[in-house]
Amino acid sequence: MKADLLIRNAGQLCTLSGPEGPRRGHQLADIGVIADGAVASLDGDIVAAGPESEVLRELELDQETIEVDAGGALVTPGFVDPHTHAMFGRYRADEYALRVAGKPYVEIAAMGGGIHASVSDFNKRSDEELLEMNLRRLRRMILSGSTTIEVKSGYALNLDNELRALELISHMDRELPIPLIATFLGAHEIPPKWRENREVHIREIVETWLVKVAEQGIARFADIFCEPTVFTLTESEYILSAARELGLRIKIHADEIAPGYGAAALAARLGACSADHLIVMSDADMPVLAASDTVAVLLPATSLGLASVEFAPARKMIESGIAVALATDFNPGSSCTESMGFVLSLACSALRMTPAEALCAATHNAAWACGEGTKTGSLVPGKRADILIHDCLDFRELPYHMGFNSVRKVFAGGQDIGFSANDIRDIVPLN
Ligand code: NIG
Ligand code: FE
Repeated sequence: MKADLLIRNAGQLCTLSGPEGPRRGHQLADIGVIADGAVASLDGDIVAAGPESEVLRELELDQETIEVDAGGALVTPGFVDPHTHAMFGRYRADEYALRVAGKPYVEIAAMGGGIHASVSDFNKRSDEELLEMNLRRLRRMILSGSTTIEVKSGYALNLDNELRALELISHMDRELPIPLIATFLGAHEIPPKWRENREVHIREIVETWLVKVAEQGIARFADIFCEPTVFTLTESEYILSAARELGLRIKIHADEIAPGYGAAALAARLGACSADHLIVMSDADMPVLAASDTVAVLLPATSLGLASVEFAPARKMIESGIAVALATDFNPGSSCTESMGFVLSLACSALRMTPAEALCAATHNAAWACGEGTKTGSLVPGKRADILIHDCLDFRELPYHMGFNSVRKVFAGGQDIGFSANDIRDIVPLN
């Protein structure tokens, strides 16, 4: 068998091979740990992964094969980040400072901050500015190990600019060496001018916005912020059912703020690909979600960004058989982190997931949570060669070593990704 890339001398290789489909219960800890491993790929896809002696036996190496010595380090699949809002303008650190001082997120939003502050900022910016800002953010996410990233629109809230946000996401997808999965989040908030006539606005989303998004084929998913203070359960069902009929797959921001609202059960009933947040989901909804194919995407960095000590009940969820994934929720409001490594630390220390469960939730299950499960998330023949070489020896060091990016090398589709320091700066004029 031929290969154009061979990564050898992995002191520990986690292939994540095991049952296909979102893993639940004890399967979540199946991460395929192999000592002294190697991975080989050809034309961007994996052809072999396993103990080095076995991989070498299967391969015909030639001058075309690039050999990389992992130096005894840990090798894993690339992280998949299935929930981000990486298409926004300015940051909102002013609001973070207020939250730390005790002002709740909803009060800040009611004072003119929150999503609306990002909306008025976004709609004033040029395409060039938005691309420049968000490409830099996404490159930082890639250097932190994310090799597939879902990106939502949702900071425009008018049709033309929501379509512009999705076009800019497609542009970034073409520009970057990794796939971006686009999600239409036109139902992120009700624009203030429609507050008194919300049913008119909601009808417009269904009859015009979704139709245009589906016609243009620029989003894979439709998402909604389902909360009693944003879009109600009935409104969410109306919008998402219409999206589904138009051929979009669906996701829900569910049970983030209002305790036990029931958005998780709605996600299961509508056959959503994922239900995200679930910080305050009810116990009664757990068996409903467990019996569905909907993946629960947990976002522990959001609890931290909200300056809250309330986290999703991950242990109960795993024990009840819910398929759990992890994501950053990277956004200017509630969660300003690019790093899946940091999310792994939070998943273990705050959600009490084991390091093996957290790794599976950030790779294999995260890929299923954004519709990429058959393509990435594990190092098995036929999947994309999305591979990380870490600066450590053991997968348990990933969550244990906190707050520093210890990803040493990123391969996306078999290509070694390296960006220069200049490509990832936020403050562009600095040298
Ligand atoms: O996922 N929950 C809604 N959307 C974001 C927050 C957006 C913002 O504050 O800008 C979230 O937490
Ligand atoms: Fe979000």
